[in-house]
Amino acid sequence: MKLWPIFAFCLLAQFASFNVLSDTKQNKTPTSFVFSQSMPKDGNLVLGIHANSELGSFGKEIDSRSNGGLTHAINATKFEAKPETSQLITAPKNSGFNQILLVGLGDKIKKLDNAQLHKIGGSAIQAAIKTFKNNIQMAFDLPIEQSANIAYGSKLGSYYFDKYYTDEERQKYQSTIQFITPEADNAKAFFKQNLDPVANAIWLSRDMSNEPANIIYPQSFVKRWKKHFKGLDNIKIKVLDEKDMLKKGMGAIYGVGRGSKRPPRMMIVEYMGGKRGDAPVALVGKGITFDTGGISIKGSNNMWNMKFDMSGAASAIGTIHALAGRNAKVNVVGIAALAENMPGANAQRPGDVVTSMSGKTIQIRSTDAEGRLVLADGVYYGDITYNPSLLVDLATLTGSASRALGKDYAAYFSRHDELAPLFIAMGKETGDEVWPLPLNDNHFKAIENDVADVMNSGPGAPGASAGAAFIGTFIRESTPWVHLDIAGVAWNEKSTPLKASPGSTSFGIQLLNGYIKEHFEDK
Ligand code: BES
Ligand code: MN
Ligand code: ZN
Repeated sequence: MKLWPIFAFCLLAQFASFNVLSDTKQNKTPTSFVFSQSMPKDGNLVLGIHANSELGSFGKEIDSRSNGGLTHAINATKFEAKPETSQLITAPKNSGFNQILLVGLGDKIKKLDNAQLHKIGGSAIQAAIKTFKNNIQMAFDLPIEQSANIAYGSKLGSYYFDKYYTDEERQKYQSTIQFITPEADNAKAFFKQNLDPVANAIWLSRDMSNEPANIIYPQSFVKRWKKHFKGLDNIKIKVLDEKDMLKKGMGAIYGVGRGSKRPPRMMIVEYMGGKRGDAPVALVGKGITFDTGGISIKGSNNMWNMKFDMSGAASAIGTIHALAGRNAKVNVVGIAALAENMPGANAQRPGDVVTSMSGKTIQIRSTDAEGRLVLADGVYYGDITYNPSLLVDLATLTGSASRALGKDYAAYFSRHDELAPLFIAMGKETGDEVWPLPLNDNHFKAIENDVADVMNSGPGAPGASAGAAFIGTFIRESTPWVHLDIAGVAWNEKSTPLKASPGSTSFGIQLLNGYIKEHFEDK
């Protein structure tokens, strides 16, 4: 009797038990641009104009083709050209175009900063997709860097997660955008070198966070990022599985992962684009691919949102992708501490004691305070393996941070006071804003425990600060360390100019890319 078909079936069935929907579909590829400096002849046009009928060279060309028709139309609609506003007009006769979407650039004398240019680009493309859908042509008579930043904002603003729509009409758009600007070659070069790699990394990270948890779990997170890193230089990827974790004594992340059929992973991506021997920056992200709360189970209201609980890990690895894409001259390592927090027969219980890689013991008070547990081993591993010049951890850690600061700021914590103004400033510059919350000795006292060295949550401990203190317990005090609690800002149910889909914001990539560029990169 032939047994192999039965054997093969059992093998397949084992995989099929959780790979019901396989990860073969792709979200659309990121928006791309063709830069040119000659005005298109027909179709529809998105046209940037300044206030007071300052038309710029492209507007003037349309005006002369149409015998003053553009000026006439602008005056007739009373369009004031304020930033982030637009106005659709029927294209003037003889201009060659069908419709023109006017996009406001504000007063010509006021120089727009990059964050404003991004929002203008994002809201322009969203309006353009809504009205024109495809074959979008945008003309902006702006200097090289400003044009490139408009394109960058358009790329972020055109992000949609619509891969699961089977009705093609529902898919928002699929297109390459014609971008017309006077110094097209230079704008293209600037864009490709500095901005496009960041926008690409943001698209990939958003996709990762927006995916449901039946598609992205620790192993598939690793697999997908590995694919995205193919072809980038100076990248080395290590992956620790549950056996490696046990060998290294990583009892904290192991304990979180043990309740799930999908085993935990630690993904380490080294990007060594800097000088040999320069200490790297370490970015460590909370990667809970789904947070049910575990045995301390959450209520069912909005539990579906907990597919975003790996957003810190997606931003940490995404930042490495952005830096590698820019060929940045810097050493950085990204660490994703990945686990699925499930209540299962083998799950850990409240009251259990686990031993972390650092040797410190932890009493589990709530299995729902799992992010700090996976990070305990993640940050310790990063700190002792790499002696980083700066260690930043990112985590959707507490509801408390999100209630305190809402959608505008990530909560910022550090023991190194001199870093706060630098991070606040970079937040303003990049749009990924942060605001400091306190971290003092009382917060460390609040997590002391009578059974083990520390506990993962405690009565009376202020939520966000106690979480920060817990993570800090596993990092040497001499290591410059910043904790970003991104629970409030990692996703947003509303669309914004920089994100057309509700869902992931990829918070942190712009902030850390900017911070590393300013403070660590060799120019
Ligand atoms: N992933 C959650 C935090 C969270 C809550 C993020 C809501 C975004 C929205 C985290 O693992 C958690 O459950 N935190 C608990 C900690 C508590 C048990 C100490 C919280 O904030 O309630
Ligand atoms: Mn939790
Ligand atoms: Zn969580």
